Amino acid sequence: MPKSKKKSSTPQKPWRKTVKKAMKQATEEEAKQRFGTADPLFNYRWEHVTAVVTLALKLGELTGADLEVVEAAAWLHDIRKEAGPKHPQEGAKAAHEILPTTDFPPEKIGHVAKVIRSHMGLWRKKPLKDLEAQVLWDADKLAKIGLTAAFHFTPLTLMKGNGTALQTIINDARSNSKWMTKTVASMHTEPAKRAAEKRLKRFTRLWTRLEAELNGQDLLS
Ligand SMILES: [Fe+2]
Ligand SMILES: [Fe+2]
Repeated sequence: MPKSKKKSSTPQKPWRKTVKKAMKQATEEEAKQRFGTADPLFNYRWEHVTAVVTLALKLGELTGADLEVVEAAAWLHDIRKEAGPKHPQEGAKAAHEILPTTDFPPEKIGHVAKVIRSHMGLWRKKPLKDLEAQVLWDADKLAKIGLTAAFHFTPLTLMKGNGTALQTIINDARSNSKWMTKTVASMHTEPAKRAAEKRLKRFTRLWTRLEAELNGQDLLS
């Protein structure tokens, strides 16, 4: 009897679960390098990426972007963060390695990689043209301003140790608000522009109010 020529096809992994798992592992590696443990009190990168995914999906819906491209790119955009300024290019390569092993539509993988490649920079001189790239860029930066930023940056500053005082956190926040103004001005999509302006106002107001409490200025008003 001739042997059956039936091809044994490897079952494809579900893409969302796969990229999420790959990203979680990358954040644990980063935490080990940064804080000496894979499970720190606050896993900044995981908090950041999950916030970006939520914002990117909302923004994608509001702007009519391709949600599969946007979501896959949002999960993977910082997966090679250790590569520093080259992490968008390295992240794009990772997308080409990971997504073909999953049930993600193969014809969209190149687009995901392009979106990841374009997410660099806290502000931009030239706006991005591709809608999905605009959505990821805006979502990534929205997650770095406003109250989200206040609650993400504060534990990071505290984890640097050395008995960091609240005033240092306020001073750090003030210097961050300088680039945030440029970030707000660089937003591409209308919903992100509106949200970014409000977020920056809340961020600035928060530190002013905190400083007023610390100094007892609120006793005078
Ligand atoms: Fe990034
Ligand atoms: Fe990011």
